[in-house]
Amino acid sequence: MQVGIDQIAFYTPDYVLNLTDLAQAREIDPDKFKIGIGQDWQAVVPNYEDVVTMAVNASRKIIDADNSHQIDEVIFATESGIDNSKSAAIYLKKLLELPDYLRTIEVKQACYGGTYALMSARDYVMLHPDRKVLVVAADIARYGLNTAGEVTQGAGAIAMLVSADPQLAVINNDSVFMSREVTDFWRPLDSDTALVDGHLSTEIYLTMFVELWQKYCQKNKQTIADVSAFAFHLPYTKMGKKALNQIIDQASVDQQESLTKRLLASQQYSRQVGNLYTGSVYLSLLSLLAHDDSLQAGDQVNLFSFGSGAEAELFSLTLQPDYQDLINATVLDYQLAQRQRLSVVEYEKMFKSQLYDSHQDQETTALDDRTICQFYGWRAGQRL
Ligand code: CAA
Repeated sequence: MQVGIDQIAFYTPDYVLNLTDLAQAREIDPDKFKIGIGQDWQAVVPNYEDVVTMAVNASRKIIDADNSHQIDEVIFATESGIDNSKSAAIYLKKLLELPDYLRTIEVKQACYGGTYALMSARDYVMLHPDRKVLVVAADIARYGLNTAGEVTQGAGAIAMLVSADPQLAVINNDSVFMSREVTDFWRPLDSDTALVDGHLSTEIYLTMFVELWQKYCQKNKQTIADVSAFAFHLPYTKMGKKALNQIIDQASVDQQESLTKRLLASQQYSRQVGNLYTGSVYLSLLSLLAHDDSLQAGDQVNLFSFGSGAEAELFSLTLQPDYQDLINATVLDYQLAQRQRLSVVEYEKMFKSQLYDSHQDQETTALDDRTICQFYGWRAGQRL
């Protein structure tokens, strides 16, 4: 029996910061952001949205009356959760109006959590092939104003429905994974922003990718010739290039060209949204499928998932015959193009309004009646 991703959807808020504007405000050469880091735009989250509302908006694109009663588990991966005890999944389940007879749980290991959630869902469906699992990876990547990490912020949610005989892609049983305690990136309980040694985290990411690539090839008796494309966790898009560059000379000249072209396709959404933390590698996958028309059913796409701290996993998907019918690139591209461009001053105000201290006065900096939370009267910090 084959199990995998039956459907996938993405949501990001309606506000966006142009990184040339940010570079100018910070008196940095814009080419550093656009070329050196590889980011053009960054999602900005208004204070009435959080990981739960973003997850609802993503999930609603794939959950309907036909499949909601088949769901046995809701697994919510995040490192920007809203409660230290209660799972974000239980709020999500309520807002999606799912039945009570299912499991809800939140998982955390930095940006890696989404992949643990996906693998756990795969294992559950293997044992219960007539049931489905909703996996959500949602985060707000927040480093702070005027920090080195500011250019690598972002936000959004990915929702995936995991089932037997999936329409989109089968998850192959070829995973290799590793964990190693590293103090490269963490967020203390009383901090709204991450603490990070960005250069160390880049180094650990690259080291873990090479180590896992070697292990993957040995374990599965594969070479790079078996891989049609890679989708990387992208804290910033240059990272994917750095990772692939470490192994690309193992490929033939033709394949090098094709892998590079597909890497560019996989980076397009991240360039416009920024880091999604747990959802980032799945946004790369979505971007690849939306922007590359040369892939075919049966092709193998290898995913590299990385979470600081640090943990990583490398595994592959096999694309299914109708996968293209499930990816509506035109709609996704249109939605991104419709976002409202903020000035740097507006971005800074909205950024501050998301921080815990600002919830004391509950100032609303922006309103948009399309957000799900307004239907329920919810705002960050003022739940239920
Ligand atoms: N024109 C073109 N390129 C330029 C340039 C210019 N004018 N000025 C600088 N550059 C290039 C540099 O040469 C460098 O390129 P390489 O990386 O290829 O050498 C690149 O721009 C970045 O320059 P710096 O290293 O000097 O930039 P920085 O010190 O400001 O740090 C960063 C960059 C480490 C990514 C920082 O933004 C950061 O800490 N980000 C947050 C942490 C992060 O994203 N870490 C990544 C791995 S961790 C992870 O994956 C988990 C997760 O999601 C957090």
